[in-house]
Amino acid sequence: MAEGNAVLLQTTNVTRRFAGLVAVADLNLTVCEGEILGLIGPNGAGKSTTFNLISGFLKPSSGRLEIFGKDCTRKSPTEISRMGLVRTFQHGSYMRSMTVRDNILLGTIHWLSGASSAQRQQRVAESADILGLTSHLDRVAGSLPHGIQRLVSIALALATRPRLLCLDEPLTGLNETEVASTLNALRTIRERFGCTILLVEHNMKAVMALCDRIVVLHHGQQLATGSPSQIRLNEKVIAAYLGSRHGK
Ligand SMILES: Nc1ncnc2c1ncn2[C@@H]1O[C@H](COP(=O)(O)OP(=O)(O)OP(=O)(O)O)[C@@H](O)[C@H]1O
Ligand SMILES: [Mg+2]
Repeated sequence: MAEGNAVLLQTTNVTRRFAGLVAVADLNLTVCEGEILGLIGPNGAGKSTTFNLISGFLKPSSGRLEIFGKDCTRKSPTEISRMGLVRTFQHGSYMRSMTVRDNILLGTIHWLSGASSAQRQQRVAESADILGLTSHLDRVAGSLPHGIQRLVSIALALATRPRLLCLDEPLTGLNETEVASTLNALRTIRERFGCTILLVEHNMKAVMALCDRIVVLHHGQQLATGSPSQIRLNEKVIAAYLGSRHGK
């Protein structure tokens, strides 16, 4: 699906060091329009650091970052999100003390500064509906079960109508039924809004079922890239990661 489509994100030899540690090493990551790309790898492989780099929260020690064809190596998180690359954080990206509705409304503030209140509420209703959050709209986000709280982060990001939606472990804490409905929601988001999705996730069953392509990171380096069936059978990937996650 990715072949021939426009390149939305390109990192060229991006490296990020923390003192003596190389968290991301010479990363050449390409995300193409319309795909759902999985970024996987063991704990500490550099996945969240990659998200921080592409969303402007961290600057590369070296290398170049291009988003939607523009050099974004030195751009701020706000500039990058306004361009349409919106990300969630591994440990949640919403206000615990606010209702689900007000959280998603925050997302709409990014979108259309001149939008009417009715337009914003419609955007909230649509985002909540896709993620199955409608019955929780008036609940305080922090009071909800952990799995549902994770969906609030996605709804908030979705409310901005991103062109490239980057999700850091969106399925953590969800039960099997919630995982299945979230996967359907992500497919709907792509179909309905033409949204490209970059996903970090440890739930391999879900990654294999959802993603068009997978990039495997190990010690900050790109270990392999391919379709789910290629990655599943890749001996280097099995040795470094998948072998230890059998059945998960
Ligand atoms: N701000 C930081 N300062 C120092 N070291 C950091 C910082 N952020 C990340 N690291 C280190 O960089 C490496 C990569 O971390 P990162 O959080 O990107 O891994 P990850 O692949 O997201 O892991 P996980 O699956 O556990 O979330 C780790 O060794 C981590 O300790
Ligand atoms: Mg992480």
